[in-house]
Amino acid sequence: MAAAITGTGVAVPPNVVTNDDLIRIMDTTDDWIRSRTGVASRRFVDPGTGTSDLAAEAALDALADAGVDAAAVDVVVCATMTPDRQNPGIAGAVQHKAGLDATAVFDLRQQCSGFLFGLDLADMLITTGRAGTVLVVGAEVHAGYLPWGDAWDIVLGRVDRAPTADERDLATRHRAWSVLFGDGAGAMVLRDEPGRAASDTAARVGILGSVLRTDGTHADLIEVPGLGSEQRPYADAAQIAAGLHHPAMNGGGLYRLAVETMPAAVQDVLEIAGCKLDDLDLVVAHQANDRILEGARRRLGAGAEVMPSNIEHWGNTTAATLPILFHELRERGRVGPGSLVAFTSFGAGAHWGAILYREPGGAEAA
Ligand SMILES: CC(C)(COP(=O)(O)OP(=O)(O)OC[C@H]1O[C@@H](n2cnc3c(N)ncnc32)[C@H](O)[C@@H]1OP(=O)(O)O)[C@@H](O)C(=O)NCCC(=O)NCCS
Repeated sequence: MAAAITGTGVAVPPNVVTNDDLIRIMDTTDDWIRSRTGVASRRFVDPGTGTSDLAAEAALDALADAGVDAAAVDVVVCATMTPDRQNPGIAGAVQHKAGLDATAVFDLRQQCSGFLFGLDLADMLITTGRAGTVLVVGAEVHAGYLPWGDAWDIVLGRVDRAPTADERDLATRHRAWSVLFGDGAGAMVLRDEPGRAASDTAARVGILGSVLRTDGTHADLIEVPGLGSEQRPYADAAQIAAGLHHPAMNGGGLYRLAVETMPAAVQDVLEIAGCKLDDLDLVVAHQANDRILEGARRRLGAGAEVMPSNIEHWGNTTAATLPILFHELRERGRVGPGSLVAFTSFGAGAHWGAILYREPGGAEAA
């Protein structure tokens, strides 16, 4: 048995926010954001649209692409760090909104690595015979996190006024992390694809190997410190006033760990599967920041053609970056029969890893 990706889909919201739009409410420049992060624009939902709405849209897109009926989905795995509400998670809402009859749904909380962990779970379910069709979705609505209050209307060009001094001060204090993120969703349908003998790596298809890692000692590199069970009450005005509901980020620490761990995980998974770097057609890496990607490329010895970036248009969509990028590469014909692809990510927690995948339909089919 082998878990193969038979369909992909995406959902991105309509509101495009460029770096110049951000300049209206904070002290920053297009040059600073582009040169430090690679982001030129990102998308945001309107109030009232939740993560499960984007997730359900991407799920239906992926099912249509796979030609799979909603009734055939056995398990739904949803990864997000921005659920519609504190609880429950979004997987039940996605099941409902997409009209799926899945018997079981999972919510994963591995932030930027959520989709990667979801792929591995799908592989385990399929290769053990527990499920025939698994839908994995990564989705985020970061808009609610952003400390822009009424200044959102200025960002979106919906009012003609300058921000107040307080609005500008708040947005500027949070500029290091807030310029990185965007909203979006991506989904994949995975199904059993009978592969060849497991001993013959070159002939195997689907997910060939996986390396997942967690080091909880790094949990404070990026976290939302408030609004949780450690607090009593878990939500109150004092925490909001102290800004504990916004992410706190150690940008330098994240950079160093991400650049080190993603290439190492790719090397490890290649070794486990008996493959070499030169065998890879693509490395689909988490789109946290173009500088991280550049550092990871250097360390791995891979060029931008093999390890591409799309952060310029979407920003960091956290759990959605891997499926959105893979979908775009597939649409552009970069994934064909027999393509060998490494997925890799690093995210808050800290969780990271790599998964090796071979697209069916190549020489193994001969
Ligand atoms: C966030 C990141 C781009 C910041 O880059 P950096 O070079 O480390 O910048 P620093 O935080 O040291 O700040 C340098 C200066 O730029 C300023 N700055 C921060 N954000 C800014 C912005 N959006 N616009 C203009 N200036 C900004 C800082 O205030 C600081 O000014 P100072 O020197 O006067 O104090 C970088 O650390 C990074 O890419 N880290 C990884 C973060 C990430 O990927 N997070 C998501 C992972 S899940």
